[in-house]
Amino acid sequence: MLQKINETVSFITERIENIPESGIILGTGLGDFSESINIHHTIPYKEIPNFPHSTVESHKGNLIFGDVDGHHVLVMQGRFHYYEGYLMEEVIFPVRVMKFMGVKNLLVTNAAGGMNPSFEVGDIMIINDHINLMPNPLIGKHYAEFGDRFPDMSETYDLTLINKAIEWGATQKFRLQKGCYVGVTGPTLETPKEYEYMHAIGGDAVGMSTVPEIIAAHQMGMKCFAASVITDLGVPGRIEKTSLQDVLNAAKKAGPHLAILLDLILKAL
Ligand code: HPA
Repeated sequence: MLQKINETVSFITERIENIPESGIILGTGLGDFSESINIHHTIPYKEIPNFPHSTVESHKGNLIFGDVDGHHVLVMQGRFHYYEGYLMEEVIFPVRVMKFMGVKNLLVTNAAGGMNPSFEVGDIMIINDHINLMPNPLIGKHYAEFGDRFPDMSETYDLTLINKAIEWGATQKFRLQKGCYVGVTGPTLETPKEYEYMHAIGGDAVGMSTVPEIIAAHQMGMKCFAASVITDLGVPGRIEKTSLQDVLNAAKKAGPHLAILLDLILKAL
């Protein structure tokens, strides 16, 4: 595994001038932020040795390197979900590569269903904790180079960045929430009782990504920040049939706000 990571790191670093300070993973329908980047290099996933390969012909994925007001970033345009059939070690492989390249911070966005009754579709939720209901991505052979075998998770999401985001949110017209993200495998959305259960155990929103990448990043000592766009509601009495198109429509509406938020976070780093 270490050899694979190092091989991929060498391939990438030979093609870029500046080591990015921050890695950014953009969620479903949340690509707006890409427009704020002054792009220097785009490397398609399919050209990168050891990067997971999609079995789907139309799969589009790129690693974008560039800067936002001089802050060097790497953006994953397209991420690997567990429900697509990737192994957990494949889902987190890009994050391992980021760390070994020298990337210090990880910023993640996603689309999620809201269980907190005070949430509305289109709200942005800053993730301040998570509950992992997927297989743990650290199961398997451990390498000391990754960090602890039993990582502490008492403060996974950077508090300073959370507070910065909340402070800023208070001055905005749109609603910025804070809460706990429940990570599930999908690909089914939840039944009404599953939403109720996930709210009862402390979840405010639920989605099919983010937790594996954050666990790997936190184990390796990266500073983590994550935010969800609430694209549908799992609140009793307010649950509606939801399609991928509904999720994309809601994500699209909140996308510009999220892009401003990411910009703010990059400045705060
Ligand atoms: N559940 C799980 N994943 C999701 C949802 C949801 O309601 N909405 C967007 N991603």
